[in-house]
Amino acid sequence: MEKGKFIVFEGIDGAGKGTQIKLLVEEMKRRGRRVYQTAEPTESSIGGMIRDALGGFTQRGAYEMSALFLADRIFHNVNPKKGISQFLEKGIDVVCDRYYYSSFAYQGIDADLDWVMEINLGCSEITRPDLCIFLDVDIDSCDERIEKNRFSREIYENKTIQEKIRHRFFEIFDRLGDRDNIKIVNAAREISEVSSDILRIYNDLT
Ligand code: TYD
Repeated sequence: MEKGKFIVFEGIDGAGKGTQIKLLVEEMKRRGRRVYQTAEPTESSIGGMIRDALGGFTQRGAYEMSALFLADRIFHNVNPKKGISQFLEKGIDVVCDRYYYSSFAYQGIDADLDWVMEINLGCSEITRPDLCIFLDVDIDSCDERIEKNRFSREIYENKTIQEKIRHRFFEIFDRLGDRDNIKIVNAAREISEVSSDILRIYNDLT
């Protein structure tokens, strides 16, 4: 049986990943694909520890965070209930909100980037996506969206850090070169314009 496709969405906080993921998943299902929609950090107990740290309730260093995200990601791939690998094996597509690119961009600032890349890319239980769609928006429009939609801000949600992280994403994509299939989409446009670009990219994949 043909394996499912593994599609990841990335972007800085407030880039509109949620909206675009929903639209793509709906379209995939309309076309008769079976799709499992998921996100990182996961709902596992490690995911809970990560959220405590993101909310600023527990203080954790960048190396500790990298390791927690790594453990959460391994769980996300191989857990027997909802592991990404088994969906793909069954021919079900997986669409995931954030993946190892986020670890490189966020944790790779304060932890050694080579190390963060190595622990993720070198781990045989972490599946490499078939496609990564990076939703690119300028920092100011993201900041407005975060301000409008959120009750409180997480530790990474301030302008200076977001600007740094956006640059980091581009550095990482350069560094990965052809290793991963990465497509950058200008997401500072109308929702429908962005989603038709995403659909075009998706069509090329299938
Ligand atoms: P969350 O509010 O759950 O989702 P989002 O902002 O994508 O809607 O936040 C996830 C946060 O976790 C986000 O700030 C990025 C961060 N993160 C990392 O720092 N490293 C990682 O490996 C992942 C997957 C996420």
